[in-house]
Amino acid sequence: MNMKQRIATFLLLSAAMANGDDSTIISYKNCDANSLPAENTSISTLNNGQFYKMCPGSHKHSNNDTFATLGQPKCGDGSNFAFYLTRPEQPQQGEQPQKVLIELSGGGACWDKGTCALQSFFLKMPPLDFVLGMSCSDVGKIAEVSEGWDILCARTVGETDFTEYNTIVIPYCTQDVHLGDAAEALYDGTTIQHVGGHNTYRTLQWVFDNFEDPSHIVLTGCSAGATPLPVFYHMIKEHYKARGRNVKVNIISDSPVYLTPRNFLENHFQFWNHETVMKSIGFDYDTHKEDVQYASAVLDYVLDGSDDSDGIGVVSHNDDAISLMYYIAMGGDDDTKTSVETQWWAEMNNSWSQTMNEHTNFDVFIINGSGHCSSGLYFANQQPDFEKWVSNIVASASLIYVQQETVVMNTSVTMTAATDPTSTTTEAYESRPVESPVSPMNNTFPSSGSETDTPSAATCKATAGHILIATFLCLQLCLLLG
Ligand SMILES: *[C@@H]1O[C@H](CO)[C@@H](O)[C@H](O)[C@H]1NC(C)=O
Ligand SMILES: *[C@@H]1O[C@H](CO)[C@@H](O)[C@H](O)[C@H]1NC(C)=O
Ligand SMILES: *[C@@H]1O[C@H](CO)[C@@H](O)[C@H](O)[C@H]1NC(C)=O
Ligand SMILES: *[C@@H]1O[C@H](CO)[C@@H](O)[C@H](O)[C@H]1NC(C)=O
Ligand SMILES: *[C@@H]1O[C@H](CO)[C@@H](O)[C@H](O)[C@H]1NC(C)=O
Ligand SMILES: *[C@@H]1O[C@H](CO)[C@@H](O)[C@H](O)[C@H]1NC(C)=O
Repeated sequence: MNMKQRIATFLLLSAAMANGDDSTIISYKNCDANSLPAENTSISTLNNGQFYKMCPGSHKHSNNDTFATLGQPKCGDGSNFAFYLTRPEQPQQGEQPQKVLIELSGGGACWDKGTCALQSFFLKMPPLDFVLGMSCSDVGKIAEVSEGWDILCARTVGETDFTEYNTIVIPYCTQDVHLGDAAEALYDGTTIQHVGGHNTYRTLQWVFDNFEDPSHIVLTGCSAGATPLPVFYHMIKEHYKARGRNVKVNIISDSPVYLTPRNFLENHFQFWNHETVMKSIGFDYDTHKEDVQYASAVLDYVLDGSDDSDGIGVVSHNDDAISLMYYIAMGGDDDTKTSVETQWWAEMNNSWSQTMNEHTNFDVFIINGSGHCSSGLYFANQQPDFEKWVSNIVASASLIYVQQETVVMNTSVTMTAATDPTSTTTEAYESRPVESPVSPMNNTFPSSGSETDTPSAATCKATAGHILIATFLCLQLCLLLG
């Protein structure tokens, strides 16, 4: 080959590699009008301190008319999926290495016609568009007066100042713990798109394209948003390692729900088709797919391949009605000798104790009391020792950590709010319209008139408050009603 040919070959090969050796055609026809086309929007074109909504396109192979692997992002009922993101409020100086926080939302799971009917509210995007155009501190001020949820990019946890992080929020609308690859799952006449794996995978592709050499990535999530974090840890580490970058990645997993009961694994788990994503990280899915230790096996696999300096932490109450409800619904109460509460906690505790013994970079923060989780580590952050524990996870010096005391949360305030929209929490929000730092009206329901077309500013403010509270509380509470 002469020089020209060599250069041509090199360019062709590079192009093929950049495209994952198979070029795709991207279509944005399944995107809301107020979202930006993700693959065509670079982070450098966005303002600091402002939430945007990004829609990953549908990817089809360029040589035939079929979808590329994990190429069809959408919600469970077929409606459009998008993720939210904001750059930090303080402009970054020069070439400062970038920090990234990725939060996966929670909101239950469903695996047959009945459970998916109960969870139908969670098969479309949560009504979070009111954050568009707002800054983290704006949203943080609403959280402060609303109670029951928080937003990390408005605060510091331990020694980590999340206001310096680029924040990506991945909504949950597929009821498959963010890992599914089952377009058109058919449950007795009802079709559900369990394509959470597509949504998260395509969101991560955007993160990879836009953060080539981040200095730190923190992964967090509540409930169904906590369960898949180890899988995405692995995916992220491997991506950067393949490009010669060793990026520090930490996990703070808040109240993950284990999917282990035998009845569930044998009769329902296959409908989500986690196989594609699990095999893509090299996990031996076929061996473990019906193993009651499935969740431990995944954790073990990920920790075996993790960096010792990447602290990985799990937070859980030792009495968690939501986790317990799922455990029972999945058929976990098969041991008639012990109460289901005891059995659930024994299983969680055994699994985590064993993992802690085998992996020095894994630790658990137990809250002695009843409760589940909310966004932004809200309940955990009220524990006196939690921030210290997070600092330890992030520093990853040695995770041998002695927990001091725990405070049992009084969740009755939020409980009432979820069932009675006129109670404390909402009042707290509504009673402060003057001090309210932002007007949701300006940002809330852009063009595509949703449930609340052209409301007055006052109704809109109340509605935004209600919806917001309902959305976050439902993560913990509405599921109970199901
Ligand atoms: C996105 O970029 C591709 C090429 O890079 C182009 O073909 C396509 O038209 C763009 N789409 C939008 C919506 O801008
Ligand atoms: C479409 O093309 C892709 C990429 O070349 C290939 O992997 C896939 O198997 C093809 N699908 C069909 C149905 O031909
Ligand atoms: C949890 O496990 C640890 C270590 O095996 C044990 O000391 C402790 O008693 C267990 N707690 C519960 C509530 O089962
Ligand atoms: C947990 O709380 C219960 C009831 O409030 C109490 O009896 C028990 O001693 C506490 N356990 C620990 C380890 O703090
Ligand atoms: C919890 O809060 C509710 C409502 O504010 C109050 O009525 C109740 O007494 C509190 N319970 C405890 C144990 O503090
Ligand atoms: C929207 O914002 C503008 C300026 O940012 C303000 O003048 C206007 O009053 C706001 N509208 C509402 C309905 O709050």
